[in-house]
Amino acid sequence: MTEPIDLAALPEDFAWGVATSAYQIEGAVAEDGRSPSIWDTFCRVPGAVAGGDTGDVACDHYHRWREDVALMKELGVTAYRFSIAWPRVVPGGDGPANRAGIDFYDRLVDALLEAGITPSATLYHWDLPQTLQDRGGWPVRDTAQHLASYASVAASALGDRVRHWATLNEPLCSAWIGHLEGRMAPGLTDVTAAVRASYHLLLGHGLAAQAIRAAAPGAEVGIVNNLSTVEPATPCEADVAAARRADGHTNRWWLDPVHGRGFPADMLEVYGVDLPERPGDREVIAQPLDWLGLNYYFPLVVADDPAGPPPFTRQTGRPRGRRTGMDWDIDADGIESLLLRLTDEYGARRLYVTENGSAYPDTVGPDGTVDDPERVRYLEEHLAACARAVRKGAPLAGYFAWSLLDNFEWAYGYDKRFGLVHVDYRTQKRTVKNSGRRYADIIRTHRPAPRAA
Ligand code: FCB
Repeated sequence: MTEPIDLAALPEDFAWGVATSAYQIEGAVAEDGRSPSIWDTFCRVPGAVAGGDTGDVACDHYHRWREDVALMKELGVTAYRFSIAWPRVVPGGDGPANRAGIDFYDRLVDALLEAGITPSATLYHWDLPQTLQDRGGWPVRDTAQHLASYASVAASALGDRVRHWATLNEPLCSAWIGHLEGRMAPGLTDVTAAVRASYHLLLGHGLAAQAIRAAAPGAEVGIVNNLSTVEPATPCEADVAAARRADGHTNRWWLDPVHGRGFPADMLEVYGVDLPERPGDREVIAQPLDWLGLNYYFPLVVADDPAGPPPFTRQTGRPRGRRTGMDWDIDADGIESLLLRLTDEYGARRLYVTENGSAYPDTVGPDGTVDDPERVRYLEEHLAACARAVRKGAPLAGYFAWSLLDNFEWAYGYDKRFGLVHVDYRTQKRTVKNSGRRYADIIRTHRPAPRAA
């Protein structure tokens, strides 16, 4: 039996979506002119990815995209957030476009539209062409310019049919996890490189937003950030100060500059690195946005950690409570408070939850079904929290479940399954999980019945 959840506050035209990203699902890494990305390289570093997994084949979506669009149609989703692989579309990083790469997304977009599903394209979901990394990567200013050129290629090719564009997915992960913690590509642990990377990512965001709008008038442009609520592990002063730094590192560093407020001064002090600023950058970074995307997974609970890397905090988690298979605390109230923070503190006029979901070690049962009650509960609780945020004034226009499919979960490899649809990686068989069925029910119940002619 499923409990009814109160979603009445969600608008009638709410976008009911699912999300994926290119490297996590496509495979076909050496086909049709795609060049290697920093993730192809990182996967080959011994010990970097659990089980030595790579995205070489992933969900083989590059060949099975028709089946995957049909699955979305079966679920009844009205929107699909995918990312475009920069190394497919502009394999040299800058310079000429690759027709075969573009053709793939052309066909995908056409099939989505035909299925009545609105495409939402993300330009950069972490797969920097390796050739640009060899020229310095995100710590180098030119990379921002190259993102804009690639944006122009992508928007010129698809902008007649794709209205909804995100520049970056979670620049926090690219900069902090990729350049400071070293747990993601390119695997550096250097605060100067990390701060410079963060700056050029946001500069690239602004330049790309301009490029998209120039190439595709009418495009609706946004940025996708992963944000967390932050609480101190204990009420002691050092932990309270740590929580303030963690908030700066996770939330304010990414939100303030794009809202024209510059980079947070307290965090500049924490990092102790000069920004590679030039006159006019601040305005470029603060391009007006049509929407803001929130990826929400867990609350942060932190303690002071003077010995750690900046921002000198340590994630302790909550002592009690439910956790997902990623060991992430579950707290649906967090999504509500972040949506309200974006509304009240940052004046957001349109919001999307661009990712939200949970990993569990799912298996296909003897009857061929995948029973995943914890994911069902996670989904319901977070959707209900979204509806509460809307009741309190958040202009939330859609929700994208992460993810359509089980996929390559970065440094965790294939072990962590986030899909509403199970993937058997030996056979590539897709099986809709019970959570996928539940999502389909929710969508069907919420959507207005077609009006009689
Ligand atoms: C987010 C990423 C996405 C996926 C989920 C679980 O940080 O954007 O690619 O890995 O986490």
